[in-house]
Amino acid sequence: MTTPLVIDTDTAQDDCVALLVGLLDPAADLRAITMVAGNVGFDQQVRNAFVTLSAAGRLGEVPVHLGCRRPLVRPWVSAENVHGDGSGGLSMDASGLEPEPEHAVDALVRLAAENPGELSIVAIGPLTNIAAALAKDPGFARNVGSLYVMGGSNNGRGNITAAAEFNFYVDPEAAKAVFAAGFDVTVVPWDPLTLRQAVFDQERLDVIAALGTPLSDFFGRVCAATLEFDRRVGIDGTTHPDSLTAAVLLHPELVRRSARYHVDVETAGELTRGYSAMSWGVHGLAANATVIEEIDSEGFFALLVEVLSRRTVPTREITGL
Ligand code: BDR
Ligand code: CA
Repeated sequence: MTTPLVIDTDTAQDDCVALLVGLLDPAADLRAITMVAGNVGFDQQVRNAFVTLSAAGRLGEVPVHLGCRRPLVRPWVSAENVHGDGSGGLSMDASGLEPEPEHAVDALVRLAAENPGELSIVAIGPLTNIAAALAKDPGFARNVGSLYVMGGSNNGRGNITAAAEFNFYVDPEAAKAVFAAGFDVTVVPWDPLTLRQAVFDQERLDVIAALGTPLSDFFGRVCAATLEFDRRVGIDGTTHPDSLTAAVLLHPELVRRSARYHVDVETAGELTRGYSAMSWGVHGLAANATVIEEIDSEGFFALLVEVLSRRTVPTREITGL
């Protein structure tokens, strides 16, 4: 049985890896890719998504919809200092390649309404498109089967500030609206989960490089800039929160421990913009989200190795690969 899903992405680095999971894991039925403002320039993110589709050998098979080009109320904040262009300088002749004419928010609303309760959304960028879909269709949260969100930290460190993780920091108003909307939502946080269990150290990176497939080369290229940044800030490897989010939807057996929390997001704080307050049941607040606390890290790595082992032939030649 496959899981019908949409990936809502600010495509750069691990977003590319998450797309590979959605495109190549036999458990996935990827219905669409929706783009949202986040990591790097919007048009570059779209190029990165198309290059990733090509690397997977699936260019032209999955629709790409362009969504919100900036957060709901604030100016866009970039993570280009972390990700560079987000695809390690890979490029491709994009002539004749067009995103869908339908806006990402309309596509999300439509796809969820077509089969109420069946569609999963993996949201691995700022939550702007998801919040806009809520504003557009009051039935949206009800129609979405499950929403998997990469964002926030579970009473831990941020990455863009001491308090905040990037996706929630960029559009805190959107994140707040999403947690208030009544989705069946599961959260993959940055700290501690990603930092403890979804970092690939040199030993794991060597295993991937040794695969010698076009996809293992692709992985090395798209992760290179972030690896350099991570090492500068004391993280011993590449970080994979986005691909982990796709993986736990498709393979729930990877989750070793999760708990129900009340999650809310700070929009007013002077030092804490985008901070995710995750309350664990003792503060009188009703739970609105499942937060993943521990995964089978080896199993997750094995899944990515399996995906990257596939001998795909790029649909269009990728310069630099
Ligand atoms: C998140 O921010 C982005 O830089 C990554 O793609 C991930 O979604 C981690 O904070
Ligand atoms: Ca992302």
